[in-house]
Amino acid sequence: MGAASQSVSGPAPPPGLTTTRAPFIENARANGEIYIRQPYQLYSDENQETWGRLLTRMGPRWSRYANRRYLEGLERLHLSPARIPRLEDLTRFMAPLTGFRSRAVSGYVPSYLFFDCLRRREFPTTITIRDGAHLEYLPEPDIFHDVAGHVPMHTDPAFAEALVRFGEAAAAAAERARDIGDPHEKLRALTSKIRGMSRFFWFSVEFGLMRDAADGLKVYGSGLLSSFGEIAHAIDAPGVRRVPFSVEEVINQPFEIDHYQPLLYVVESFDHLFELVGELERWIRDGKLDDVAPGEPAVSETDLESFLTG
Ligand SMILES: [Fe+2]
Repeated sequence: MGAASQSVSGPAPPPGLTTTRAPFIENARANGEIYIRQPYQLYSDENQETWGRLLTRMGPRWSRYANRRYLEGLERLHLSPARIPRLEDLTRFMAPLTGFRSRAVSGYVPSYLFFDCLRRREFPTTITIRDGAHLEYLPEPDIFHDVAGHVPMHTDPAFAEALVRFGEAAAAAAERARDIGDPHEKLRALTSKIRGMSRFFWFSVEFGLMRDAADGLKVYGSGLLSSFGEIAHAIDAPGVRRVPFSVEEVINQPFEIDHYQPLLYVVESFDHLFELVGELERWIRDGKLDDVAPGEPAVSETDLESFLTG
């Protein structure tokens, strides 16, 4: 009887690496581990199926709305709806092109550590995947957002250089904070700089549009590239304002994360983006991010701490 019931039940199915339910991740976080491995055998059949559905339904949207560099990157990574990618395979395809590697993380990475990873050409990559019952809405990144939204662009040399430059801008912000003696002023100015940098990152890497002479208006922001609904809304909806990217405007522009973006900024190319990040870095060095407009996003103690100790 015992043997029979054992053979019927078989080995326990893998517990899954679902964003809302992943014991492996909870343990890592409880131990304070940010950088982890991708325990591939823990993905459940449902996780694999969710990945396949997400990738398959985005295909036609990417063909229509994504910029050319992204589509080329997608091909180079050989993503397949049949299986969640292994980060080591992504690195194998990506590193020879730009030096970028995917590095598994347990969740939120304090902002200085995140930017500093970019400087070292490492992309902190979430390994969990969203619950299959909620394909669209997602308050935090998952492997679909990080891998299908971000990583294809990391095969493009100009985009990769822009990311590295973000890391250098963050290093400049940390350096400036160290130079300010008064503790209150140090925190106030640093909070402002982190807020300005977060806005810049949001309106470019996460939600950026590009106007290409040959292709017209296309999407390159990862938040858009990983959203079935918003990618079309960003390009087609008449109510969205699409304005040329200006460092001064962007660093002072609050954003909210819980609805489609009503305002998007347009760059001309990834070389143009690289120039803009360079401008950001100069502005940080010149103290021009020390008084950005108040408002979203909030800057956490953890983020501040990461700049002061990182
Ligand atoms: Fe992202």
